Amino acid sequence: MNQTSRIFVAGSRGLVGSAIVRCLRQLAFTNLLLPSRQELDLTCAEAVHRFFASERPEYVFLAAAKVGGILANTIYPADFIRDNLTIQLNVIDAAWRNGVQKLEFLGSSCIYPKFAPQPMKEEYLLTGALEPTNESYAIAKIAGIKLCQAYWKQYGFQAISLMPTNLYGPGDNFDLQNSHVLPALIRKFHEAQSEHRPEVVVWGTGTPRREFLHVDDLASAAVFLMEHYDQPEILNVGVGEDVTIDALAQLVARCIGYEGQVVFDTSKPDGTPRKLLDVTRLHQLGWRHSISLEQGIHSTYRWFVDHVNSAALVNAGT
Ligand SMILES: NC(=O)c1ccc[n+]([C@@H]2O[C@H](COP(=O)([O-])OP(=O)(O)OC[C@H]3O[C@@H](n4cnc5c(N)ncnc54)[C@H](OP(=O)(O)O)[C@@H]3O)[C@@H](O)[C@H]2O)c1
Repeated sequence: MNQTSRIFVAGSRGLVGSAIVRCLRQLAFTNLLLPSRQELDLTCAEAVHRFFASERPEYVFLAAAKVGGILANTIYPADFIRDNLTIQLNVIDAAWRNGVQKLEFLGSSCIYPKFAPQPMKEEYLLTGALEPTNESYAIAKIAGIKLCQAYWKQYGFQAISLMPTNLYGPGDNFDLQNSHVLPALIRKFHEAQSEHRPEVVVWGTGTPRREFLHVDDLASAAVFLMEHYDQPEILNVGVGEDVTIDALAQLVARCIGYEGQVVFDTSKPDGTPRKLLDVTRLHQLGWRHSISLEQGIHSTYRWFVDHVNSAALVNAGT
């Protein structure tokens, strides 16, 4: 890519897409194509093909997807599989047909088998059954990977696939019903602090281990890999370290300045004991994360406080 390359970021208003846009702007890329969903509905094949034919992007970051928590995935499995398959097929096919030089597809660590050995290596893909609660979403993402690999094999189309770990950062969804663990904890501790509550109850035993990558680090990896990764094999993107939910809760409490007790409700389910990506290949390519979990929680909390009553947070799901 050079500074004037025509770069289409699909999903540029989302958590990942907006971070990729920030990163590209910081690096002085000036020719960004950033249509909103209202301007370009990616589930509409005709509109997508028209867009590619007229705008002629040279590089594509595919960060648009229908994304949701366990509840939404359980209630709307048809929407998750249909919308994600459709968006991926439309964008990947139109990109190839219209001469895009390289496309980067954003997948997710949920593509790996539920009982995959830890840390999870790229070659564990399709070696076991998936977590049933988000199977529709994971199958769509696996189909996206296979589309990229098939277009590469048959047509020589450079389509790379990244599998990020759990992400967090500015613009996250802080809805207590439907958010991931880290933003949910930030919100819980913030509310307990504001209302002077003596304790915060966290679901489960606190012993499961999870990995978290700041979305600005993911964006930096996404841009780095667009320039330096040229293989059809999927590539994990994470930090290579995990923390217990207990340690995470204590860290969030400390960053927010909450001095009450953290209590674990052990009657609630823990989920899988560990979910960590093996990032050996990413490190060998020369990229490592730079934002520590503590720094990342501080800056995400500042963003949350600035937006707690604003439309941005309402749009993010509250
Ligand atoms: N968040 C994570 O922890 C995480 C972890 C690993 C991988 N990922 C992957 O990263 C990608 C992006 O996730 P995210 O967290 O950034 O999700 P997000 O915040 O929900 O953003 C998704 C974006 O896609 C857009 N979009 C959805 N349907 C569309 C359509 N029909 N036409 C046009 N645009 C559409 C959304 O538009 P609107 O703004 O109009 O809704 C939004 O801008 C996904 O593939 C996800 O699997 C995320």
